[in-house]
Amino acid sequence: MAKNRNDAMEKIVALCKRRGFIFPNSEIYGGLASSYDYGPLGVEIKNNIKRLWWKYFVQDREDMTGIDGNIILSPRVWEASGHVANFTDPLVECKKCHQRFRPDKLENAAKCPDCGGEFTAEKRFSGLFKTVIGPVEEEGQVVYLRPETAQAIFADYKNVLNSSNKKIPFGIGQIGKAFRNEITTGNFTFRTFEFEQMEIEYFINPTADWNKIFEEWLDYIYGFMDVIGLERKKMHNHEIAKEDLAFYSKRTIDLEYQFPFGQDELWAIAYRTDHDLGLHQKYSGQNLEYFDDKTNKKYLPHVIEPTFGLDRTILALIGEAYREEELPDGETRVVLKFKPNVAPYKIAVFPLLKNKPELVAAARRLYEDLKKDFLVFWDDRGNIGKRYRYQDEIGTPYCVTVDFDSLENNSVTVRYRDSMRQERINIDGLKDYLHKKIEL
Ligand code: GAP
Repeated sequence: MAKNRNDAMEKIVALCKRRGFIFPNSEIYGGLASSYDYGPLGVEIKNNIKRLWWKYFVQDREDMTGIDGNIILSPRVWEASGHVANFTDPLVECKKCHQRFRPDKLENAAKCPDCGGEFTAEKRFSGLFKTVIGPVEEEGQVVYLRPETAQAIFADYKNVLNSSNKKIPFGIGQIGKAFRNEITTGNFTFRTFEFEQMEIEYFINPTADWNKIFEEWLDYIYGFMDVIGLERKKMHNHEIAKEDLAFYSKRTIDLEYQFPFGQDELWAIAYRTDHDLGLHQKYSGQNLEYFDDKTNKKYLPHVIEPTFGLDRTILALIGEAYREEELPDGETRVVLKFKPNVAPYKIAVFPLLKNKPELVAAARRLYEDLKKDFLVFWDDRGNIGKRYRYQDEIGTPYCVTVDFDSLENNSVTVRYRDSMRQERINIDGLKDYLHKKIEL
């Protein structure tokens, strides 16, 4: 393992760029603060996590359904939700070096930690990004980029109810971008201006035992750690004290994870009561009550909200997968030990030698066939040792090599990333064999 935490983060950031997981955004122009792009491998991991999340939280549960809402909603949504008035952080600026800080995050709030300068008086600073709809800026309508995906779910809740067969209790899931004008960013993709959330609003009867439902969801969330291969023992439940709760919450647990840079919030679960639906009902003038056809009674549902940061999930997965291992020959290999369902490429196929057309043709046939079912990497560069090192660094769990024996006896060598063990497998059964391994 890397020597210390910061050392580990530096190595992860370097690997992410070197191999095409995550790049600094707009780098040819010197970059944009706390903004990153996902490269060819990063986008595969991202899509894998989204797909696994959607299956586990939305499709596998009869009491769940999903939407894909807009990033820009009516500004009335954010007035109603309280974000326009309350989604603010305290801000102080150093009079000498003009750096800005959140005083509640400083150890000594009297002096600038960088240059020792005096601070300005504390101001409130809105976390909302504003933009304008319309061709003339001065006459346009001011709108906001959503700071959470949740509000589109509340705004669409009645349409979902009226167009589906869902009955309370049921939930709506959504994956999408969110934007926050954060004062302090950092730790790579941990806190950025633009990020992606995967959120659920689970609607319940106000008389239901909300604490029990809350605990059941908490358990279910832990199950997702097993799905994507995060270690449960690295997660810590941080019960938020009453005085520190967000303006909409009656109970919140931050699920804090041991990132390479330290323990911090990865996911969260909150009991938002009927705060949001109540305010949307008031501001929109629409009746948002639910009619219970068993009791013939109407009520405004309460909600439990499990929420997940997608970028932080990817960072946690890369941090947990990263290993430096000393090999018997004294060399060190860097390897990303992703669970196969998360890994960008599942299989790599090589011809043992590049300049033997019969080997290349047989390996190409195998590649074309496996490609129908999996994302497969073709490599005929360099020697086999270098190809293995490359696949280790990008986390490919299985490497398949076609050699001269393959032409004789229809078998290939399968090499395992984690143990580096090699096994001979008959080509006829290879696809089934890999399916079983990858879908575990
Ligand atoms: N709807 C509830 C909500 O938005 P939150 O705790 O403010 O709650 C949810 O955000 C999740 O979104 C966090 O647990 C975190 O994973 C992610 N997140 C929040 N701000 C972020 C940022 N600036 N950069 C990256 N991820 C962020």
